This record gives sequence, structure tokens and C-alpha cells, in this order.
Amino acid sequence: MGTNRVGVGSVYLLACLILGALRSCNGGISSSYARSNSISADMPLNSDVFAVPPGYNSPQQVHITQGDHEGKGVIISWVTPDEPGSSEVIYWAENSELKKHAVGTVVTYKYYNYSSPYIHHCTIKNLEYDTKYFYEVGIGNAKRQFWFITPPEVGPDVPYTFGLIGDLGQTFDSNRTLTHYESNPAKGKAVLFVGDLSYADAYPLHDNNRWDSWARFVERSVAYQPWIWSAGNHEIDFLPEYGETEPFKPYTHRYYVPYKSSGSTSPLWYSIKRASAYIIVMSSYSAYGMYTPQYKWLMSELPKVNRSETPWLIVVMHCPLYSSYVHHYMEGETMRVMYEQYFVQYKVDVVFSGHVHAYERTGRVSNIAYNIENGLCTPRNDGLAPVYITIGDGGNQEGLLYEMVDPQPRYSAYREPSYGHGIFDIKNKTHAYFAWHRNQDGYAVEGDSLWFENLYWKSSQDSLSTSF
Ligand SMILES: *[C@@H]1O[C@H](CO)[C@@H](O)[C@H](O)[C@H]1NC(C)=O
Ligand SMILES: *[C@@H]1O[C@H](CO)[C@@H](O)[C@H](O)[C@H]1NC(C)=O
Ligand SMILES: *[C@@H]1O[C@H](CO)[C@@H](O)[C@H](O)[C@H]1NC(C)=O
Ligand SMILES: *[C@@H]1O[C@H](CO)[C@@H](O)[C@H](O)[C@H]1NC(C)=O
Ligand SMILES: [Fe+2]
Repeated sequence: MGTNRVGVGSVYLLACLILGALRSCNGGISSSYARSNSISADMPLNSDVFAVPPGYNSPQQVHITQGDHEGKGVIISWVTPDEPGSSEVIYWAENSELKKHAVGTVVTYKYYNYSSPYIHHCTIKNLEYDTKYFYEVGIGNAKRQFWFITPPEVGPDVPYTFGLIGDLGQTFDSNRTLTHYESNPAKGKAVLFVGDLSYADAYPLHDNNRWDSWARFVERSVAYQPWIWSAGNHEIDFLPEYGETEPFKPYTHRYYVPYKSSGSTSPLWYSIKRASAYIIVMSSYSAYGMYTPQYKWLMSELPKVNRSETPWLIVVMHCPLYSSYVHHYMEGETMRVMYEQYFVQYKVDVVFSGHVHAYERTGRVSNIAYNIENGLCTPRNDGLAPVYITIGDGGNQEGLLYEMVDPQPRYSAYREPSYGHGIFDIKNKTHAYFAWHRNQDGYAVEGDSLWFENLYWKSSQDSLSTSF
């Protein structure tokens, strides 16, 4: 019928117009930087970064992380290769003669036919805030000394600078990423590590010697400043064909975190306060549906965050909720459906993830209007929703991901597959500055950046102004 024809034709025209408009107002920037497509190899085991410290049973793989909820504690971990040795740490404040002692524990594990060395963990507590401490591990002529600086007292206007590193691995590119982080004039004081550490599972039988080499590689940073750990898929190490059925076994034996102090029942999800930030670490690879331990913990955790005390609410989880790269596309979708509503409700400032080996930053968007009948399932601009940043570009042996969803979705503000790291620099309770640094640039060069206005303070201002 003629009238119908006209109708169909004009609907078609209209659809083209709308599609055309969508195309021209698609997302932000897809960087056109041209990279080589070569996959980076792991550094050989005889590389300088993997060198074993001299001396019989000398402590190696030294690493620290926050050891309590407020930042007055530190967990010091290290490995002795030949025999258990001592689990004692000697530590003292820079301006003090008084040497204190703390004794930790030693654990080992087996992984198929691999036997771990002796893994020591010692928590030291009740330190002074904002103080440099020296510490010593090992005995006899195999003592090694390091230092760290505790964070300032928790409070709303306390500046603090976090580094962001993800999917690091142990390639030549991994080494460049770490060097760039160390040399960045912004001077990160603690790293939020977004998961996927050693990539030992890329080797036959998940050769756990690569867990050891990785820890020797990163010691030059993590022995001196805490890395806040989250687990990625390369930490699962699930290998039932060889009898290895306990997920996260190497990771949880090697990397202790202060999960009990935030009421968590698992090291895979927990929270800490550090300076003016409240950091919630989640596990993309543990049950997170309703009534699961992780869900119950998060539901009791979010209301506890006092934004007058810690205005910056940061979530770290390995798998991104928003990513517009083809590889891993929508892998975070079930978690998004489950948790995005709470991140919006509790005004999470930023969600940092890895997994996708590239960089991407979204605008402030949310996609929480959908119910099973209304069809409202498209991300929309939402000034009071989190920014999602994918920083899975540490440089592991799987290489970068180049293929992007085209056209760039509107939620995506900037995306580029280059190796690098991030800096989240909290200035005060209202402002923070994020910058992404590529390995191919000079240490101070910012590939992408964004000023953050704190969402809690912003929304209280907004409600003030609308009440007039
Ligand atoms: C473990 O088993 C693999 C495969 O059978 C073998 O190549 C390797 O040498 C063994 N390692 C040890 C420490 O026995
Ligand atoms: C790793 O980087 C450090 C610091 O830049 C350098 O001294 C070292 O030689 C590098 N090692 C390898 C194997 O690339
Ligand atoms: C929240 O933190 C502020 C500032 O530290 C404090 O004055 C207030 O009592 C805290 N509120 C609650 C409910 O603990
Ligand atoms: C907070 O930091 C921002 C950025 O440095 C600055 O513009 C602003 O004035 C600061 N706010 C206060 C209250 O100092
Ligand atoms: Fe991953």
C-alpha cells in the first residue's frame, strides 16, 4: 500500500538521520598513534632485574603493603630460599635510636611439582603517621635494609599521590613501565595495582619460578612503597588436570593484605583508608552475585564510608565495567549489572581496572535505568557517576590490544593502546588530578589527563544550589 510505503520510507530516512547524528557525536578520542605490533618477550631469567641478592639464604622478593585499615600498619613480606631462617623484622623511625622488633610467620606451598621457598609475612602496627622508617630483614651477613614512609593521618584535606599499574608481567616493556613510574616527577607514594602480576601461568605447569622472578623484579619499588593488591585472572592458577584445584593459591600465599581489618572474610576483597582516600578492592573472579560473601561485605562496607573523613572513594577491580576494545568486550557486564547502581548511589569517584591491555578513560556515565521491560539500556551522561579508567597496559607478554569497537561509543572519552602507567594525585578534598603516562614519551609527558572534582562535595554543592 502506497501510504505504508511512504511511511516505511520516511522511517528509514529518519533512522539514517539519527544514525548519522550518532556517528558524528560518537565518543571521544581514539588516539591515532601508530605502534609496532610486536609482542614483547619476558626478560630471560639471567637478567639483571632478577638477580638473587648475595649471601647464604639472603632475603629476596621483599615487598610491603598497608597492614591495617588506617595506614599505621605495614605488612612486610620476603622470601628466603634455602631454609626458613628468621621471620623477624627490625625497624626504627628515622629520627629515633629505638630499634623495635616484630616477628611474623613463615609459609610454604606446593604447586604440582614446585615447592615454594620460605615466604615470610610480618605485620608491624601502631606506627607514627607521615614518618620515615627503616627496616631490616634477614640474619647474619645476609641482612638487608630498606625503608618506607607512612602516609599522613587520615583526613579530608590530605594530599596524596597514588600510582596506577596493571597487568605488569615481566617483559622488557614491564621494566620500562616500572622505570617510567619510578622516574615520574609526580612521585607516586603508593601503587594501586589493578591485577595480573607475574603471568607465571603462561608457562607450562604455571612455572611458579616466574612468581619468584617477578617478585625480585618489582622489589626495587615495592620494598620501599606499598602496592595495594587486587587479584586478576592470571592470579587464579586453577589447573585441575594437575591436581591444582585451589584458586589463587600462589597469589594468596605470597601476597598478604589486611582484609580482616575491614571485616572481610577473604583476601580477595577488602578496603583501606589512606590519607584522604577510601579504597575498595574487589575480586572480579570470585562469586559476587546476591547473598555471596563478597556481595554481603560490599553492602555493609559502602554505607560505612564517611566522606567527610575520606572524601575520595576509589574502587579497584581487575575486569573493567566499561571498555570499548574488542578483546574482552563486555566481560565485565555481569559485574556492571550487579554493582554499578551502588557505585552511582554511593558516589564512587573513580573505578580503576586492568585486564584489557590498553588505556581507556570514560566520561562520567551511568547505565542503571534498565528494568526487564523498559528497554533503557544505553549508557548516558551522568555528572554524578564514576569515571572508569582501564590501565591494563603494564606491558606483559601477551602484548597490546589494538582492535577497538567502531565507532567509538559515546561513553568512551579517550582510548589508546600504548604501554604506560597512571598517577592519581589528590590535591585536597575537592580536587584530584589524573594523568596517564606512556612508556614511549619522556617521564613527565602526560598522554591523557583529567581534573576530578570530588563527587561527594560536588553533589553537596549541587543540592545546596538547587535548594535556592
Ligand atoms: C616438573 O614436571 C615437569 C614436567 O613433567 C618437568 O619438566 C620438571 O622438570 C619438573 N620439575 C621439578 C622441579 O621436578
Ligand atoms: C630494567 O630497567 C632498569 C632501570 O631502567 C635497568 O637498569 C635494567 O638494566 C633493565 N633491565 C632489563 C633486563 O631490561
Ligand atoms: C565522619 O568524619 C567526620 C570528620 O572526621 C567526623 O567529625 C564525624 O563524626 C564522622 N561521622 C561519623 C558518623 O562517624
Ligand atoms: C583544591 O585544589 C584545587 C586544585 O589545586 C585548587 O584550585 C583549589 O583552590 C583547592 N581548594 C582549596 C579549598 O584549597
Ligand atoms: Fe587480566
